[in-house]
Amino acid sequence: MAKGKFLSKLGFFASYFEEFSVEFSVKSGSPEKQRSACIVVGVFEPRRLTAVAEQLDEISEGYISNLIRRGDLEGKAGQMLLLHHVPNVLSERVLLVGCGKERELNERQYKDILAKTIKTLNETGSMEAVCFLPELHVKGRDTYWKVRQAVEATQHSLYTFLQLKTKKGEPRRPLRKMVFNVPTRKELPAGERAVEHGMAVAAGVKITRDVANMPPNICNPKYLWEQAQLISEQYDSVTTEVVDEAKMAELEMNSYLAVGRGSHNESMMSIIKHAGGSADQAPIVLVGKGLTFDSGGISIKPGAGMDEMKYDMGGAASVLGVMNTVAALNLPINVIGVLAGCENMPDANAYRPGDILTTMSGQTVEVMNTDAEGRLVLCDALTYVERYEPDCVVDIATLTGACIVALGHHATGLMSTHNPLAHELLNASEQSSDRAWRLPLWDEYQSQIDSPFADISNLGVKGAGTITAACFLSRFTKKYNWAHMDIAGTAWNSGANKGSTGRPVSMLAQFLMNRAGVVTED
Ligand code: BES
Ligand code: MN
Ligand code: ZN
Repeated sequence: MAKGKFLSKLGFFASYFEEFSVEFSVKSGSPEKQRSACIVVGVFEPRRLTAVAEQLDEISEGYISNLIRRGDLEGKAGQMLLLHHVPNVLSERVLLVGCGKERELNERQYKDILAKTIKTLNETGSMEAVCFLPELHVKGRDTYWKVRQAVEATQHSLYTFLQLKTKKGEPRRPLRKMVFNVPTRKELPAGERAVEHGMAVAAGVKITRDVANMPPNICNPKYLWEQAQLISEQYDSVTTEVVDEAKMAELEMNSYLAVGRGSHNESMMSIIKHAGGSADQAPIVLVGKGLTFDSGGISIKPGAGMDEMKYDMGGAASVLGVMNTVAALNLPINVIGVLAGCENMPDANAYRPGDILTTMSGQTVEVMNTDAEGRLVLCDALTYVERYEPDCVVDIATLTGACIVALGHHATGLMSTHNPLAHELLNASEQSSDRAWRLPLWDEYQSQIDSPFADISNLGVKGAGTITAACFLSRFTKKYNWAHMDIAGTAWNSGANKGSTGRPVSMLAQFLMNRAGVVTED
């Protein structure tokens, strides 16, 4: 089959579903009994040993406290000191990790400290490690959370995207085995659950990052469809369907079709179904914006940074990733993921400003700007999913640059006409530390998308661009409970760290685990 050949030739297939390179486990033991390549213990600021570090200090007859007293490590958050052959310690190395002031240790610092720790281990040749950091006290967080975050952070910081480099430059002795130590045996079951969940989430995040990072000459709507099929090949609970341009024409998805008309790549809406619940249970539907490249179309974007518009399929990539997580955990619910694949290009055949389109819903839209294409693709996808009589629909989209103005790069913008759903999603974001912040979706904003000639304009006037985009979508979501997530600021990093973040897979996975009644605490 041509597809398989293409994928395996470039080695893409192998990178998606290969076993995770790091093997995780939890145990409850004391540091002096560990026989490992490295043990990782914390030191608080100023120069105060954690209980575990103190145990090592005792058996080494003050070796560690001596170093610290001499000023080798202050204990500032993220400081690292790697020691070899500490007297009487069975492990080859001890990595002392600065944890900042004990009382100030918060979630973000905990995650940062872990990420730095993992990088250090990976670069200094410890192929395995026993890490005592989950024993730190993080305000309001239990062992489950600390271990799950540790697993996710480990996978996150070891991620690379080297498929398209001919010289890979990977570390010679990469980290392969990670043991997280919990304070007492009582916490082992929670820790083991956290490892299982963390790995399923991390695998989803990796898929999202790989697909989003893939360049737009490879990752087109058809590629998204191939990725959906790869997931269904892995799991019995998963089936897929595709709505191609012929089918869209039949369904009168004219708005979606108009956006893709200037591109040689066929528009394709891929559907991934996980049947984990009973047949009569209403599904949760996730719809991801999948613009595999957004040039702006006839309302063309400026050249600088335009390459980053390959990430305009970040919503679809996150849906793909989270569907893999849902299937891997075999959640006892029905979930349908929709990847709204499309490419927005300028061309003789492209749609233009001034065009009036009749959407699948029958409502007409005046195109004021061909760069406000996401809403035109999503509106038809959102009408299409009515057929599933969903419990709720959440769309995920890199929809507006205005969302970056409003929230920067830390929070995903959340908007919803259904308060209970909004609260569920905000809770999930809080639990997973994958942050979202709600913006209002009041009726007052609706008149900003009035058009003199059609029912709706695709461009909002005067301010609140993120909200007016959501207002547009809200005209197509009246038949079910709906929430919209604008991930324009969170889906990828620019600059030296350029790359997909894998957000908001962790938050969506948490939302779905909550719905499935999965225990995600001690
Ligand atoms: N995909 C972009 C939004 C975007 C821009 C996300 C930059 C992340 C970074 C979207 O299709 C778009 O172009 N939106 C326009 C809307 C405007 C024309 C109303 C925007 O934000 O400028
Ligand atoms: Mn655009
Ligand atoms: Zn776009």
